[in-house]
Amino acid sequence: MFYNTNPTKTKSWAKLTEQFEKTKNIHLKDLFAEDKERFNKFSLTLDNGDFLADFSKNLIDENILKTLIELAEETHLKDNIEAMFNGEKINRTENRAVLHTALRNFGGNKIMVDGHDVMEDVLRVQAKMKEFSNKIISGEWKGYSGKEITDVVNIGIGGSDLGPRMICEALTPYHTRLKCHFVSNIDGTHIVETLKPLNPETTLFLIASKTFTTLETMTNARTARDWFLKTAKDEKFVAKHFVALSTNAKEVSAFGIDTDNMFEFWDFVGGRYSSWSAIGLSIALACGYDNFEKFLKGGYEMDQHFRNTPFEKNLPVILGLIGLWYNDFYGYQTEALLPYDQYMSRFAAYFQQGNMESNGKYVDRDGNVINNYTTGPIIWGEPGTNGQHAFFQLIHQGTKKIPCDFIAPARTHNKVGDHHVKLLSNFFAQTEALAFGKTADQVIAEFQKKGVPEEKYKDVVPFMVFTGDRPTNSFLLKEINPHSLGMLIAMYEHKIFTQGSILNIYSFDQFGVELGKQLASKIIPELTSEETITSHDSSTNGLINAYKKLK
Ligand code: F6P
Repeated sequence: MFYNTNPTKTKSWAKLTEQFEKTKNIHLKDLFAEDKERFNKFSLTLDNGDFLADFSKNLIDENILKTLIELAEETHLKDNIEAMFNGEKINRTENRAVLHTALRNFGGNKIMVDGHDVMEDVLRVQAKMKEFSNKIISGEWKGYSGKEITDVVNIGIGGSDLGPRMICEALTPYHTRLKCHFVSNIDGTHIVETLKPLNPETTLFLIASKTFTTLETMTNARTARDWFLKTAKDEKFVAKHFVALSTNAKEVSAFGIDTDNMFEFWDFVGGRYSSWSAIGLSIALACGYDNFEKFLKGGYEMDQHFRNTPFEKNLPVILGLIGLWYNDFYGYQTEALLPYDQYMSRFAAYFQQGNMESNGKYVDRDGNVINNYTTGPIIWGEPGTNGQHAFFQLIHQGTKKIPCDFIAPARTHNKVGDHHVKLLSNFFAQTEALAFGKTADQVIAEFQKKGVPEEKYKDVVPFMVFTGDRPTNSFLLKEINPHSLGMLIAMYEHKIFTQGSILNIYSFDQFGVELGKQLASKIIPELTSEETITSHDSSTNGLINAYKKLK
């Protein structure tokens, strides 16, 4: 059973409001001074110790965490988790189950939707992906002129791009001989620049689109087809070079791709949760199917943890609750994701969609406009240490507080000199600086130690003080590999689920992206017509007419 509960009407919400008033001025420094066991109490290890999550540098204590857990209980989180895993149609606005977890289910159990075991379909498509990726990687599959495929171009956008792209890049050390490219933007520059160095005889296109109607993807796919046919000359060769990753067989055939060359997934897989599905074919090609399977198994391990662990030790639940505490009580609006791993440079961009498309909603599950609490946070970030030299100034000394997640591997794939030690020293130093800061006395002591006379430093002291009290989570993984990455992604997915469930919103639809698409399709013919446009407001008319003069 999937429950709707207004979180603000619970006893725990009232209790949290009181606790917040009492504790809001307590500094992180005091929390650490009061409790020497804080790290042990507020950290968890998973995966036999290879996955450490430290959430001790947060503005919580045992009582607050206890009440947050009561909130999860009062809002039926446990039932709602079960409802998702069991294939209940919890995406009620679209009348769909939410079963990205079925794509990484190694439990051997059936998962029934509308009287059908979806695991049969999942396993069938996985077997097809395995066979296909093995054939391409081994060179058994040849292009139309008899040459092996060397390059794979995934054409997709949003969930059909961000996940596979981020994951392929994050797993670069595991790459096969194939080179994967990603085209998403409808800006012709993206496809033109991507295709420039490629040879049509050795290029395979994956047209990745759940709906197979997305304007950007279909436009890019047609351009790719034209580019291919310019050299290949014959339509029959398309079958060797174009495959579709989609739920929509009808549109796939209409586009001219044989449905034999279609890797299917289903409406119970949300776009932003689809890297685990056929949309992940580029990952299987880039890294080999065995590594793709390890990635799925990492996701499954986190699923088991999320489903079976009491909330007190349940990592995605705890992270979701802490995030909610900041968002709804402290009023912090954004969260930064900061991977200290160059291969993970697209991680924040990926979870920007994951989180913001899921929980960026203003109507609750009962259809009411939400006006007394806030829903999903704004997600952003860049890899460390680049971010340190860009936006960390504001994180350390700005008037806004930004809870940050720091993610790092203990072992690097590239042992070059002392790079990794220096990288990790920054990873550790930043969360320490953010939590504990630097007082005026410490600033003064530093000047005095250097023998600087007081008149030279006294005016600058206030500017050099770090207030600290800025919360962070740290995730230290033994290594970024397919398994640990699968765990990490599933952890964030379940954090989003936890928050959406408690905030009483529908996390698996995305009507908010539709209006812009509708208006754009109305504007397309206006941009090529000769007439002066008057059908919009004065600003939009003005902009369109100015464009028509400038073009
Ligand atoms: O931006 C809206 C959206 O529907 C996303 O949810 C989705 O990931 C993306 O567009 C791409 O959709 P499709 O896979 O159907 O092309």
